[in-house]
Amino acid sequence: PTAKPVIVAIDGPSGTGKSSTSKAVAAQLGLSYLDTGAQYRAITWWMVNNDVDLADPTAVAAVAGKPEIVSGTDPAHPTITVDGVDVAGPIRTQEVTSKVSAVSAVPEVRARITELQRSLAAAAEHGIVVEGRDIGTTVLPDADLKIFLTASPEARAARRSGELRNADVHATREALIKRDAADSSRKTSPLAKADDAVEVDTTELTLAQVIECVVTLVEGKRAGK
Ligand code: DC
Repeated sequence: PTAKPVIVAIDGPSGTGKSSTSKAVAAQLGLSYLDTGAQYRAITWWMVNNDVDLADPTAVAAVAGKPEIVSGTDPAHPTITVDGVDVAGPIRTQEVTSKVSAVSAVPEVRARITELQRSLAAAAEHGIVVEGRDIGTTVLPDADLKIFLTASPEARAARRSGELRNADVHATREALIKRDAADSSRKTSPLAKADDAVEVDTTELTLAQVIECVVTLVEGKRAGK
């Protein structure tokens, strides 16, 4: 029997294992995968490259519709392009990371990216795992399952600096706390746990345990529990 497409929203701050978990869950269950942070990074990369004044929300809003952002949703090989250019590498630089909160706070940017996210979710034949900050609250409020991942600031900073290899843990912790504060306090769809989301604290869990926990929750939903 063909199962009905399942929509899974995974939100939370950075360093909680959101991307690794979301990708693995999608791959295991044969679902599509969308990294919405990559989309905000991609539009930020374009703004930086086009010398848009990021301190001026009106300037950012005026060009929010210009770049063409395309996300490939295969969890084994997620891709992201801007106007046909592969930006998977450049969107991870410190420069983009430090500027993405300002760009993603602009309502016109969010409206544009949210529309892309909803159409990708609707097009996913078997369903999709969408990870971000406002997926359960704003982008896909009718998702079949909503997960909110958390972890202590220490655990998150340690994981992020492990990913960045050369980074200093304390500096990483400060930058991460600052970005979370900006993302949580903005007016338009801030980072927030939906009322009906399942909160999973990953501080004491291995990645494999988090994946198993989410897979079990999705399978439970599919079985109608
Ligand atoms: O997940 P990430 O660190 O790659 O996300 C980068 C930034 O994008 C994050 O600081 C806030 C923004 N973002 C957002 O505003 N809404 C989302 N759904 C996902 C990310």
